[in-house]
Amino acid sequence: MGHETVEKRVGLLGVLIVLVISIGGLVEIVPLVFSSQVTEAAEGIEPYPALQLAGRDIYIREGCYSCHSQMIRPFRAETERYGHYSLAGESVYDRPFQFGSKRTGPDLARVGGRYNDEWHRLHLINPRNLVPESNMPGYPWLEKHEVNARATVKRMKALRTLGHPYTDEQLAAAEKELAGKTEMQAVIAYLQGLGTNIPTRR
Ligand code: HEC
Repeated sequence: MGHETVEKRVGLLGVLIVLVISIGGLVEIVPLVFSSQVTEAAEGIEPYPALQLAGRDIYIREGCYSCHSQMIRPFRAETERYGHYSLAGESVYDRPFQFGSKRTGPDLARVGGRYNDEWHRLHLINPRNLVPESNMPGYPWLEKHEVNARATVKRMKALRTLGHPYTDEQLAAAEKELAGKTEMQAVIAYLQGLGTNIPTRR
């Protein structure tokens, strides 16, 4: 009887469908908001040092995320290739996060330390210097421009208001740390830091 009533009234059916889906959604989403495992930094994870933060902004500006993900899924094919799968607590200081979904190139979540700085420099100037079949574009101008130190310090201050635990000393030292650094050095520092500070690495 009840079943027939619901099926014959589209409005009621719609309301009930929304109700059921909402409950399902809440059961999945609400625990994530309160679970410290996904909202707090994993052991060893710190906010990006000034130079890495500057590099990260350039990574975003240049659109590297449009070909590279930073999210290793918990499948054997991925962990064998890239290392330990990504943990939510690794990304709490990533604003905005760089998980990505497009992999024209390899995942970069744990690329730090895989190559030396000079490899990255030559690769970023023209990837075909090192990987002849590569279709990644070159970014030679990164070496010609200096990082914008003042903007980066401002960004660190803004991130601190959002809860990134930068100390006064870090903020005071940042402008000096960045002085004279090229965008190339910043991007390389960022890449070399990716995935290196987590104990479960590889
Ligand atoms: C059009 C797509 C594309 C874009 C945009 C792109 N890449 Fe790549 N990237 C690739 C491909 C394909 C490879 C694999 C071949 C190679 O090593 O060059 C690669 C490889 C890499 C590697 C080596 C990874 C490894 O594990 O071997 C790094 C590091 C890298 N890219 C960084 C960057 C950075 C930084 C940027 C932005 C400045 C960028 N990529 C932009 C496609 C891209």
